Amino acid sequence: MQRDTPIFDLLAKELQRQRSGIELIASENFTSLQVMQAMGSVPTNKYAEGYPGKRYYAGCEVVDEMENLAIDRLKQIFNVEYANVQPHSGAQANAAVHLAILNPGDKILGLDLSMGGHLTHGSNVNYSGKLYEAHFYGVQKENGLVDYEMLEQKAREIKPKLIIVGASAYSRDWDYARVRKVADEVGCLLMADIAHPAGLIAKGLLSDPFDHCHIVTSTTHKTLRGPRGGIIMMRKDFENPWGHKDNKGNTKMMSHLLDMAVFPGIQGGPLMHVIAAKAVAFGEILSDDYTQYAHQVQKNAQALAAAFVAREYNIISGGTENHLMLIDLRNKNISGKKAEQALVKAEITANKNMVPFDDKSAFVTSGIRFGTAAITTRGMKETDMQFIADVVDRVLMNSEDTATIEAVKKEVNAFMEQFPLYPEL
Ligand SMILES: Cc1ncc(COP(=O)(O)O)c(C=O)c1O
Repeated sequence: MQRDTPIFDLLAKELQRQRSGIELIASENFTSLQVMQAMGSVPTNKYAEGYPGKRYYAGCEVVDEMENLAIDRLKQIFNVEYANVQPHSGAQANAAVHLAILNPGDKILGLDLSMGGHLTHGSNVNYSGKLYEAHFYGVQKENGLVDYEMLEQKAREIKPKLIIVGASAYSRDWDYARVRKVADEVGCLLMADIAHPAGLIAKGLLSDPFDHCHIVTSTTHKTLRGPRGGIIMMRKDFENPWGHKDNKGNTKMMSHLLDMAVFPGIQGGPLMHVIAAKAVAFGEILSDDYTQYAHQVQKNAQALAAAFVAREYNIISGGTENHLMLIDLRNKNISGKKAEQALVKAEITANKNMVPFDDKSAFVTSGIRFGTAAITTRGMKETDMQFIADVVDRVLMNSEDTATIEAVKKEVNAFMEQFPLYPEL
């Protein structure tokens, strides 16, 4: 077969882009070479609908072992009784939980998208806002912290069937125990979406959601540094509260409902090559190297936030406890959109983001979000954060000045040579 030169040329170009630039997108990371090798491997050819030992296809003995290994390692990482590693993405993991728990029209309560929440937590452009009656809590205007009083008030008022905690652009830890109290009071379930800070939670650097939240979902490709994908976990399985019974009249456990929701509920055949890569990444997370990495991600985020504060940038909530920060650019007279566009010209990638109580649209935005998961994988330490804040600041303060941006880009490219990416490739 003829080599597909146009695509392989583009792959080489993308590798070069990743190598030479500074990656500050909070939801991105660089997997290890062995994670990528597992991803680009033979199980991509295999159909395996079902679960290990209970497949709808023949020849699944080997992929069963892979999936079991992924499940066992994930259970070990978070000390959980139940894990499903099949969701194709974070959004699929959340959709499966919703399908397992909710009926169309049921009420859910999540963090508003414009305050840092995620589309799948009830946004009206997402299935979660179309199929269910979505209600929202927010953050406090004065300090950018989650407004737990508002959450409690809304929960008591609307009596949702599910409360969702977790966010895409929130730099602080969560008080899971407090939310569980009100969930118990109104008789609903509590789900945490830890897509962003999962790696820090895995190493005990943030509060543990598992004792308080009935169900926990995550992506695998952000701080967890695995392949793109989703996972669903429970520390303890429990009888589903709505009394669904199986054929023998036994009440089904939540694990059964969740498994059924992933397949056949919302997905067909699992991506077994990605599950193999998840297993590799989970093995890495269990290592001491990853423990050091997670600590460094958090230290770098704190150093980067301090470097921006020193340059009079306004960080929502005043700082960070995890791997990311959201900056309100209004005192710098530049929109998130313009900032993103100027930075990309200097080969610094970051994404525009609405800030709480934003007066600009989601397309323009007043904010920008930075994260340290990817640059820490490149090998950067706290002292390097000064350089990062300096180049970002120079671009944002000279966003129309092509000569300055060109000069910064050269500095960025030279700086990144110190941090080789995939030297084997
Ligand atoms: C909190 C949260 N949940 C879910 C997702 C969805 O993940 P995916 O893009 O893999 O569907 C994201 C992705 O940004 C996220 O930030």
